[in-house]
Amino acid sequence: MERATRIVQEVLAECVEAVRPGATTEEIDRIAAAGIKARGGKPAFLGYRGYPKTICVSVNEEVVHGIPSSKRKLREGDLVGLDLGAIVDGYFGDAARTAGAGKIAPELEELLRVTHEALLAGVEGVRVGGRIGDVGAAVEAVASRHGYGIVREFVGHGIGTALHEKPEVPNYGPPGRRETIREGMTLAIEPMLNLGTADVRVASDGWTVRTVDGKASAHFEHTVVATADGPVVLGFGRYSRARIVPGAPGFHEYPAAALARSGAVA
Ligand code: MF3
Ligand code: CO
Repeated sequence: MERATRIVQEVLAECVEAVRPGATTEEIDRIAAAGIKARGGKPAFLGYRGYPKTICVSVNEEVVHGIPSSKRKLREGDLVGLDLGAIVDGYFGDAARTAGAGKIAPELEELLRVTHEALLAGVEGVRVGGRIGDVGAAVEAVASRHGYGIVREFVGHGIGTALHEKPEVPNYGPPGRRETIREGMTLAIEPMLNLGTADVRVASDGWTVRTVDGKASAHFEHTVVATADGPVVLGFGRYSRARIVPGAPGFHEYPAAALARSGAVA
């Protein structure tokens, strides 16, 4: 799972670089597909319940599961969610980031920053012997402080030899409820926060999830393993038999696309 998520993080870095005014979301899908293939992984989303692409690209009021298209051209100021999954030797990794195309409005910068902060709070909420509700409560506390809508219809999930395993990991509490977190559990934590209300609707394409009020939404996701020493975020080379570094990596630790391409990142 470390190897699968590493591929996801490296390829996401390349996709983030491609988030520019004038780029189409189809071009980002091609980068994602080529990047996973070049690293020896398999796309986890392609064909999943009939999903037609490698990556999900969700723009502005699109929350998650936006389908890449050659007709969708990014514009200056767009907020672009990128969600990617890969498989290595039958094991899954799943992660997401949101980035701006060109310069984005200050309120969108703030939404990005807080959604990432909420993700890290959720990660820190992963404690062996604790409960899944503790994770959601930690995410909720950050989101509520800023008055953002927390999407409830879509949730994080267990992950391992399938993309979606038990348990569900909601982005809200209460704490002390739901499943007990056991050592070695692997969870995909993925807050989706809205500038406006929490209400979302699935479009007629059967996939694209949008905010009902048309306001922007942001999404960040990590695949995390619960260890006795604390949560370890997969995909950053910090999880191996020799080197298990608990805690969430900072934003600066996200593998850079240039380093990934040069092969300098092991
Ligand atoms: N990270 C998302 C999830 O866990 C991605 C799934 S998209 C799909 O639900 F295309 F695979 F459905
Ligand atoms: Co997920």
